[in-house]
Amino acid sequence: PERPYVIDEMISAKQIAARIEALAREIEKEFSDTRKLVVVGLLRGSFVFIADLVRELDLPVEVDFLEASSYGNAMESSREVRILKDLRGEIEGRDVLVVEDIVDTGYTLTHVLGLLKSRNPKRLKTIALLDKPTRRETDVKADWIGFEIPDEFVVGYGIDFAQRNRNLPHIGKVRFVDEDKA
Ligand code: PRP
Ligand code: MN
Ligand code: MG
Repeated sequence: PERPYVIDEMISAKQIAARIEALAREIEKEFSDTRKLVVVGLLRGSFVFIADLVRELDLPVEVDFLEASSYGNAMESSREVRILKDLRGEIEGRDVLVVEDIVDTGYTLTHVLGLLKSRNPKRLKTIALLDKPTRRETDVKADWIGFEIPDEFVVGYGIDFAQRNRNLPHIGKVRFVDEDKA
């Protein structure tokens, strides 16, 4: 049985779009000399962000996906990251940008970066739309961050709560409405 909740808007679709434009300009600068950038989306949460980001990037890009899971349907990280789907392409000697929706404990990004580094890319950079630095349990920080947010349970723009609300066009925070009832 699911507790009833409402979603309060935290970051509007407009704010997200403006931030992505600015981040794209920085990424273009960093990779201005690339032959082709491999943009790696971490499924499932990053599917909306990567779609908007690559369309804003004025660079030759290739899109690939890797599926990692640590939360399942729980609200807490399992701290055990499983790779459910690997990349289709090789990244050895390539320029790679890992795209993540949110860095929370950091276990997912730490695990994925370790795996990708072992394949010897030429350059490996990371971007996360959201960062919750107060929750960090591993030593990892994305090279580019859209928004630093407090420790709230957020949904939307690709991010789910038990697989729901990924299709919300903005970032919202979950507020349970039965909390003071017995
Ligand atoms: C969520 C989110 C990040 C990760 C962040 O993914 O999309 O990938 O957790 O948490 P962490 O920093 O504590 O590891 P989830 O495991 O829920 O899978 P999903 O992307 O398919 O929703
Ligand atoms: Mn994820
Ligand atoms: Mg999830």
